[in-house]
Amino acid sequence: MTFARLLQKKSIDSLQEEALSADGKEVSLKRTLGPVELTAIGVGAIVGAGIFILTGHAAASYAGPAIVLSFLLAFVACGFAGLCYAELASMIPISGSAYVYAYAALGELIAWIIGWDLILEYFLGASTVAIGWSGYVVSFLSDIGIHIPKYLCGPPFTYDPAIHKWVVTGDTLNVPALFIITAMSLVLLAGIRFSSWVNALIVIIKVSILLIFIAAGAFFINPSYLSPFIPPNTGEFGSFGWSGILRGAGVGFFAYIGFDTVSTAASEARNPQRDLPIGILCSLIICTVLYMSVSLVLTSVVHYTDLQVPAPIAVAVDAMKLNFLSPFVKIGAIAGLSSVILVLLMGQSRIFYSMSRDLLIPKAFSKVNRRFKTPHVATIVTGVFGCVASSLLPIQIAGEMVSIGTLLAFVIVCAGVLILRFTQPQARRTFRAPGGIVVPIGGIVFCLYLMSGLPFDTWMRLIVWLIIGLVIYFTYSIKRTWRTALQ
Ligand code: ALA
Repeated sequence: MTFARLLQKKSIDSLQEEALSADGKEVSLKRTLGPVELTAIGVGAIVGAGIFILTGHAAASYAGPAIVLSFLLAFVACGFAGLCYAELASMIPISGSAYVYAYAALGELIAWIIGWDLILEYFLGASTVAIGWSGYVVSFLSDIGIHIPKYLCGPPFTYDPAIHKWVVTGDTLNVPALFIITAMSLVLLAGIRFSSWVNALIVIIKVSILLIFIAAGAFFINPSYLSPFIPPNTGEFGSFGWSGILRGAGVGFFAYIGFDTVSTAASEARNPQRDLPIGILCSLIICTVLYMSVSLVLTSVVHYTDLQVPAPIAVAVDAMKLNFLSPFVKIGAIAGLSSVILVLLMGQSRIFYSMSRDLLIPKAFSKVNRRFKTPHVATIVTGVFGCVASSLLPIQIAGEMVSIGTLLAFVIVCAGVLILRFTQPQARRTFRAPGGIVVPIGGIVFCLYLMSGLPFDTWMRLIVWLIIGLVIYFTYSIKRTWRTALQ
């Protein structure tokens, strides 16, 4: 009984019933999202620090103009995972994303592990992007003569990988990061319709800025900057050449994180089985086209060696001598990063909501506010911890933890598709990833490969995080779920 309980799965039929019964409850989440809003949620979560901040560093240090190929490579990994997410979302239209899929395919224990792991993607992802947001805002305010003291814009400690030690920075807290997490949490509390509206507005702003950048940049292309397209390797792995493209793909991967957030909004979608796959795949494709075009323009307007800057797109606009566009680019980036924070925080609160409904975490997390129809306790707890993390953590560590946590979630989702194809072949799938088992296996291999490129310290932190999760599961969650099962 004991071991079998850990592997106890939820049947697809019961999950589909659960999706419907949630609607009958007196206070449940509100179904207002259609395919356009869901695609906007995907784009809102994807386009952020990756393209506005990290592209320059990746081109300057790893791939040169071939950063375009890095984005293509990252797209392949995310594309496999995206197709798997789309298939599962069409089968299991419940908020909770990879956590719910793991429950159906692999049982309660793995579901708990993945739910715990997703905290790294959503909660820590929002915190990481908030730290990037702070950097952009401080720089923008300083351009217009408002200087925020440095000690209010950074964490008190940072990790020095060279000496493997934490060192004191002399700063106190990252106050702007704390501010944006609070602001976005308040937007979320005000309801899914309002949040989706704010997100759509921001998406229009940031995508328009990128499209203007691409269109304007097309007139300033300097073909000599693109040659050699793949700069020769310097002798060190990851420093240009093909290995540099690969390392660039690691950064590209971060830039794509977020498309899966669409699946966390399943309980708020009008027709989830049809629209979730549309939202996931459309947002992924739109962002790939945007990313490849932006990075091509970027490296053909500014030589890649000059892109080691925190605001590469603004630098390219300056190089075109279109100075009037420069503040708009910064505003676009600030807005863009805000929607990533908004949507990732939303994803986290919906995962807590689902885990709480399954009794793995306290019941309060699945309470829905009567007036706003939002999981307010989950949203507030996420916001409070987000404030703490973003104001105290260094960006590098947070960012790497996000990548490894997300990659692990993708591996489990791809494995889930594979397992359900064999264990539940008859279950209704409104979308099926093409190519038989090639897509899930390709997703697993690609994601494990990208994970293998992450530093040893990051792996250790992931392992410690998972051990803490298992201690909570075996000392708290399991007692609650078992008690209910025995009743
Ligand atoms: N993809 C998101 C970003 O680049 C996390 O900010």
